[in-house]
Amino acid sequence: MESQIVDSIVMPENTPYDVAAWGPASLSNLGPGFDVLGLAIQGLGDIVSLRLLGESGFSVRVTGPEWIDDVPTNEELNTAAVAVRRLFRNAGVETGAEITIHKGVPLGSGIGGSAASAAAGAFAAAEAVRLLTGEEPDFDTIVQAALAGERIASGAIHGDNVVPSLVGGLCLVDPTNPIEYQRLGFLGECGVILLLPEARVLTKTARAILPDTVRLSSTASQAHRLASMLIALGEDDWTQAGKAMMSDDLVEPYRAAHVVGYETVRAAAIEAGAFACGLSGSGPAMFALTAPGSASTIDVGQAMLESMRKYNKPARIVCTRADLRGTRSVTSDDQGDAILDDLEGK
Ligand code: HSE
Repeated sequence: MESQIVDSIVMPENTPYDVAAWGPASLSNLGPGFDVLGLAIQGLGDIVSLRLLGESGFSVRVTGPEWIDDVPTNEELNTAAVAVRRLFRNAGVETGAEITIHKGVPLGSGIGGSAASAAAGAFAAAEAVRLLTGEEPDFDTIVQAALAGERIASGAIHGDNVVPSLVGGLCLVDPTNPIEYQRLGFLGECGVILLLPEARVLTKTARAILPDTVRLSSTASQAHRLASMLIALGEDDWTQAGKAMMSDDLVEPYRAAHVVGYETVRAAAIEAGAFACGLSGSGPAMFALTAPGSASTIDVGQAMLESMRKYNKPARIVCTRADLRGTRSVTSDDQGDAILDDLEGK
């Protein structure tokens, strides 16, 4: 495995722009935190840049390495474009823009690709409003615009990718009103290992397979697991945190049944030293976490990848950590700030 500096925050060449922002990818749910918990991660993200046209009308262009042909370029279906237009509308700014999305997060992977684009789009549009009017859109306006973008992709308003992508770190989000959130000071020093299969799962589809109703006793158990997990994280009790994170029986089992190698990968990650492993968001990506300072992060990545070999499905591993800064402006001389270990595998 080779270490490399991931250049996802470097502006692509030949993209004239007035403002640009980078939004990080994010894990969400983390076991029992369905729709309420998300963690921004370093090194994988989308850049959205805007060239302001001074007249009505939007165009959308998509560049980058990650399945760009599948990203809609219709301004009403593209998460970044919807976020940009919503922010302009709410700020009372009438301008068109050429919107370029540089995709660094694979679509349909479970690590918040649509949210990263929506967050970067809303943030870049706020920069444009500042440039054009001298006024500062408040943060709630940016969150609302990004949520409107995310809704286009997932068919529901859930803020557990958008909010951490915007503000960074681990966030607890009110599922019925995602502009109400708390940033939690946990997991900042942990190793984060991602297994990214080449398969795609649309969030809309992965939500449709969940039951509409659940028993009251199940929600009580889930509330206990989530509370117990957050308390354990606050006390650096990684064993207890992992136990709670891996005990969700309300959502993850429905989705795991469609993820090749799920149980095998989980067992391999724990055996190699991770304190937790599970589905990221609606999958098919899986995440594992190692305790701060753990020497086993790379071993966990290798074990997860190795455990997938017998299924003969292409996948790669990325070893990273939490992004504590969230969405930020990009200038032409920005450099990537994450050193990741990136493994390719078949
Ligand atoms: N909380 C959302 C879900 C995240 O699980 O459907 C989607 O990535």
